[in-house]
Amino acid sequence: MSGLYDAVQAATNVIAHETIAPPQVAIVLGSGLGPLADRVVHRRIVIEYDRIPGFEPPGISGHAGRVILGDLAGVPVIIFQGRFHYYEGHELSAVTLPMRVAAALGTKHVILTAATGGIAFGLRPGDLCLVTDHLNLMGGNPLRGPHDHRLGVRFPDMTQVYSPFWRSLATEAASELGIDLKPGVYASLPGPSYETPAEIRMLRALGADVVGMSMVPEAIVARASGMDVLGFAMVTNAAAGSGEDPSAEITHEEVLDVAKVAGGRLGDLIVRILGQWHGKN
Ligand code: HPA
Repeated sequence: MSGLYDAVQAATNVIAHETIAPPQVAIVLGSGLGPLADRVVHRRIVIEYDRIPGFEPPGISGHAGRVILGDLAGVPVIIFQGRFHYYEGHELSAVTLPMRVAAALGTKHVILTAATGGIAFGLRPGDLCLVTDHLNLMGGNPLRGPHDHRLGVRFPDMTQVYSPFWRSLATEAASELGIDLKPGVYASLPGPSYETPAEIRMLRALGADVVGMSMVPEAIVARASGMDVLGFAMVTNAAAGSGEDPSAEITHEEVLDVAKVAGGRLGDLIVRILGQWHGKN
């Protein structure tokens, strides 16, 4: 009956076929977080996206395209290394297929990571931001379309998208590692152009602290699928017009360079969080 349901099943079957331990936590790696995938050593399985129906090969530099299964800090995880983005022309339902697949595999928790521009005064390139809420400004919703109750309810609640439980674990782990984790609201825009200074002033007035081109559709689908969500934004640049030099341009190269450094620290933080969660479970 549902094309989407069948698509989820087809992708899930390929991954389930190779899975040794059902993943408890899904992790979506943004730019710069690739090395975290290399830390999955025990029971490691790699599946290239081109083997998974509906998964798109990533089109931009800084993004690989593969699923990694295995243990991280003792926790069975599924890592999505490489996103397919809305700005590449994919539908929001396609962009969020990995979240549906994670839920179909029985995964109950998701960690989302993304590079962002810092809007809030006090956020600097290299900072790590703990996402507390979001503004969906993508111009669409990934849940739009015929409803299939097997994939969740029609009108899912979004009061607490970002799990207070996981946020408090993250805050604790960050303070142990000496990481200044700053809470913030993530605004997602479709891209691919970066924002204008006027748009950044508008976003600041709306209550946004960081801006990016991903995360929010995934968070909506993850939550609608009953998963707990933890979101981290790496601040890779001052948002347009808001740095020390207001006429400074933003480049993808700058974003990737800073993401590499911030991604290393965020990887350490995620491993720490998972280790503590593992210890408590
Ligand atoms: N705007 C939107 N997306 C981004 C930015 C930005 O400044 N930096 C990294 N991703």
